[in-house]
Amino acid sequence: MSEMCTPIIEVKNLKVNFYTYAGVVKAIDGVSFRICKGETYCLVGETGCGKSVTARALTRLIRPPGKIEEGEIYYYRDGERVDIMSLSEEELNKIRGAEIAYVFQDPTAALDPLYTIGYQVAETMYEHGTVAKLKEGMRRAVEVLRRVLMPDPERRARSYPHELSGGMRQRGVIGIALSNRPRLLIADEPTTALDATVQAQLMDLLMDLKKREGLTILLITHNMGLVAEVCDRVAVMYAGVIVEEAPVYDLFEKPLHPYTRALLRAVPHPGRRTIKLEAIPGTVPNLIEPPPGCRFHPRCPHTMDVCKREKPPEIWVDEHHRVACWLYAR
Ligand SMILES: Nc1ncnc2c1ncn2[C@@H]1O[C@H](COP(=O)(O)OP(=O)(O)OP(=O)(O)O)[C@@H](O)[C@H]1O
Ligand code: SF4
Ligand SMILES: [Mg+2]
Repeated sequence: MSEMCTPIIEVKNLKVNFYTYAGVVKAIDGVSFRICKGETYCLVGETGCGKSVTARALTRLIRPPGKIEEGEIYYYRDGERVDIMSLSEEELNKIRGAEIAYVFQDPTAALDPLYTIGYQVAETMYEHGTVAKLKEGMRRAVEVLRRVLMPDPERRARSYPHELSGGMRQRGVIGIALSNRPRLLIADEPTTALDATVQAQLMDLLMDLKKREGLTILLITHNMGLVAEVCDRVAVMYAGVIVEEAPVYDLFEKPLHPYTRALLRAVPHPGRRTIKLEAIPGTVPNLIEPPPGCRFHPRCPHTMDVCKREKPPEIWVDEHHRVACWLYAR
């Protein structure tokens, strides 16, 4: 990987299971990656492949019946290495919503209907000590809403969630996430619930904030058009595994993994923002009894005997590009 990378997050061999009545869901099966300071790192893949669970695991936001079984997670704070796996819940709460902030898909679920947007921004700032008094937070909330280009921020600070449009609500949620000046913003399909125009405006806003405030972004999306537009590096996930990782240009120019190739074939117009990943033959595997060896083997057009028996190793084809597939082993 690049020597230019100053890591902000490093994950090694992450495994997450869900203990359900139907059986143990092996949701994340040995995921490793790092996110470099200042970049937009994207996680892509079909529904259920483990994008949200991976993102939540970064601050151990996995609740029962889920459990992080294995793995190392490090957060780098100005060169200090923080071992996320060994922190107490109290210490994690100081990091979540402050140094590492989340924006999830549904703005309605993220807001409390009983409080004004301004109050909710103020409360987040007060909880994390960004302001000493709630009253000061209320004043600062207007600035925060202005930063996320909320129309008429003085008035909107006094509005309740139901008085705002979907786009304004999501601006409010992004405002809350940014109010404590996070170093890492984890945006999990932050615009999918919104219409295309608002989606585009909000993504432009995020990218602009990233530039102005030196934010690092982990972006999760189904949308390969969006990936092409905003991401620096991309990790493609399939059934709980990162099957390929590369700088965005390399991924689109020379995809290596059969799954990535299928994904990109399913995107007829890479410039369009509304394309979803769908038209891949076969079904997503059951993660209670995942296929042995390569989890993609039942759908792969190149399956060999070894693929059915052994998990493919991670192969670096160059300094920046890795693939987990037996086709590239030698
Ligand atoms: N609370 C839970 N109980 C049981 N299984 C779960 C739970 N949460 C997630 N999973 C399983 O973990 C796997 C990964 O889920 P995850 O939410 O990370 O998928 P995703 O890639 O974010 O999908 P989507 O694109 O639909 O958001 C799925 O197979 C899912 O069934
Ligand atoms: S390891 Fe084998 S089954 Fe898996 S993607 Fe590569 S060729 Fe296909
Ligand atoms: Mg998800």
